[in-house]
Amino acid sequence: MPAAPSTEVIECDILIIGGGMSGCGAAFEASYWGKGLRVIMVEKAVIERSGATGEGLSAINCYMGMKWGWNTPEDFVNYVRNDMMGLAREDLVYDVGRHVDATVHMWEEWGLPIWKKPDGTYERVGRWQIPIHGESIKPIVAEPSRFALGEENLYERILVTHLLIDERDPGRIAGAIGFGVRDGNIYEFRAKAVICTAGGASNIFRPRSTGEGLGRNWYSVFDTGSVYGLVIPIGTEMTQMEHRFVPSRFKDGYGPIGMWFQFFRARATNALGEDYTVTRESELRKYEPYGSAVPTPTPLRNHQMYLDIIEGKGPIYIRTEEAIARLAGGDAARLEEVKGEAWEDFLDMTISQALMWAGQNIAPEDTPSEIVLAEPYIMGSHSGEAGAWVSGPEGLATPDYSWGYNRMSTINGLFAAGDGVGAAPHKFSSGSFTEGRIAAKSAVAYVQDMGDTPRVDKARVDQLRKAIWQPLKTLEKHRGASTSEEINPHYLLPKQGLVRLQKIMDEYAAGTSVQYTTSEPVLQRGLDLLGMLREDLEQLGARDLHELLRCWELSHRAWVAEAHVRHLIHRKETRWPGYYYRTDYPDLDDANWKVFVNSKYDPDTGQWDTFTRPYHQIVP
Ligand code: FAD
Ligand code: ADX
Repeated sequence: MPAAPSTEVIECDILIIGGGMSGCGAAFEASYWGKGLRVIMVEKAVIERSGATGEGLSAINCYMGMKWGWNTPEDFVNYVRNDMMGLAREDLVYDVGRHVDATVHMWEEWGLPIWKKPDGTYERVGRWQIPIHGESIKPIVAEPSRFALGEENLYERILVTHLLIDERDPGRIAGAIGFGVRDGNIYEFRAKAVICTAGGASNIFRPRSTGEGLGRNWYSVFDTGSVYGLVIPIGTEMTQMEHRFVPSRFKDGYGPIGMWFQFFRARATNALGEDYTVTRESELRKYEPYGSAVPTPTPLRNHQMYLDIIEGKGPIYIRTEEAIARLAGGDAARLEEVKGEAWEDFLDMTISQALMWAGQNIAPEDTPSEIVLAEPYIMGSHSGEAGAWVSGPEGLATPDYSWGYNRMSTINGLFAAGDGVGAAPHKFSSGSFTEGRIAAKSAVAYVQDMGDTPRVDKARVDQLRKAIWQPLKTLEKHRGASTSEEINPHYLLPKQGLVRLQKIMDEYAAGTSVQYTTSEPVLQRGLDLLGMLREDLEQLGARDLHELLRCWELSHRAWVAEAHVRHLIHRKETRWPGYYYRTDYPDLDDANWKVFVNSKYDPDTGQWDTFTRPYHQIVP
């Protein structure tokens, strides 16, 4: 390990951070519109298998089907608004809806196999979802983006740790800094515009899978909250950071349930054989007008299942055997076909679930599978809406939702997409790629319109270079103070810090061990403990570059956790039962809280400001 790293400086016009779904969309589009501009993408892994879609997908979950008259963007806004229990930025959601089909058609041209009916129309899983043979979706989508950028503009295996601001204007972006996870060099990127697409956050909460199961959870373990942990510290305004997604999943393998409920039309029943969507129907009436929405909003579906579980009526089983038998209709050949589709769903997307079936002797045509509510995830592209507060599209955004370029945050020149954009959920793979394209087109316009070039502050860069490397030095200095590298009075290894963060979040911020409940005094205590953890993170130690990566991922996760807790404190109601319950404010309160909760961290004072912004219904 070198005592001090060497630094490479890279100048560009547009810097894309993260080469996942939205990053690839941004790269493709920026390269198209930004002829003559230098567009660079930096990714901590390798884009053909990085991010949440790296392990494959079994469906595209955001598709309007406008060419077949299936849905309009207006329908989509209505669906998303209801699923979020009334709160979404309709300008942003509509914008994705009107453009997303073009992305899907382009992916098909690139070779993505989409399931088709004999008449050539796409098969459908549900109203918005279409099935794919999607194990290789990521390489199929990444390759054209790699090609569009040019090999010399793709910087892989570099973890971005911090954003850089203009030395003359703290409200303007100037680039980013990080280190090579293989070569150990520091990389300083100087850019006129930055598009942050570094993915949502898993492992903020103690997962159900601990010990020997650690590392298995639903959202990608490689999505460590960087999309938030990078933008919050420079003072970017955030929205809906209290929102989380609690997915109901096949137990322990975390297999998704959407295909089973919608395509195979399976039921889930409790130990008494009851279907909670039937027996708990009246519970929905407490949450009108959202309770009557079709489909029932995701948190309310969770809530119905939750009530069965806390009344001791579990386990809950998804009745795969019933569904398969019904679809096969007694035809042996059809039975083989349906079994193939059932296994493919997981082999395409969550192989661990197929392994779980094999390991537990589960044949889905014979045996039902247990499902549970998982630990919370903080994200903005799926059924979660945490993220940056961004400017909306011209002609759709109200004046208070619009301050310039589409998808630009409150920091000039800093754009976001995918999990990074708040209050615009249900984008999934296709919508995230689409939003990357939208952000990139705006970033090109921003760069073309701009006057003088931002300048990075050299003193700040020097300070960051030292800080980035510090965990390696801390460990080296104190190595030998005890007989075990893992137990040392002077430093904390990143895994130890992660476990501590997860324990705080689980117990104080409505994780699984407290059945998703919390209250103001509990949250305040959690915030105190997070403050102490933050102090101790200064003492992180790393034995090698891999642990250095883990240290900085943990730092990003800690920012996400703090923002989450501060937002939870601010929203004094229970808007999303099934995701979390405020025991001190157990009801949904549309009269006072049908508003966005926003926040801003002040890098000069270290203070946070949390406040509300109005919700506007833009689409009837
Ligand atoms: P990602 O695609 O995760 O990309 C983030 C990128 O940033 C990654 O490449 C990551 O390596 C990189 N990165 C992170 N931190 C840093 C850093 N500090 N520096 C540099 N690079 C960094 N969607 C569907 O449409 N259909 C489905 O069937 C479906 N199923 C899913 C099943 C599972 C198991 C999962 C996990 C997700 C599923 N999704 C599905 C959702 C979809 O994957 C996401 O909505 C989408 O990938 C979000 O895009 P993104 O660009 O925001 O994040
Ligand atoms: S995945 O992205 O990991 O595959 P999941 O299987 O939960 O997620 O959901 C896939 C899609 O189906 C999402 O659009 C989700 O909102 C939708 N979905 C899941 N279950 C249901 C249900 N019971 N009713 C309606 N939509 C559902």
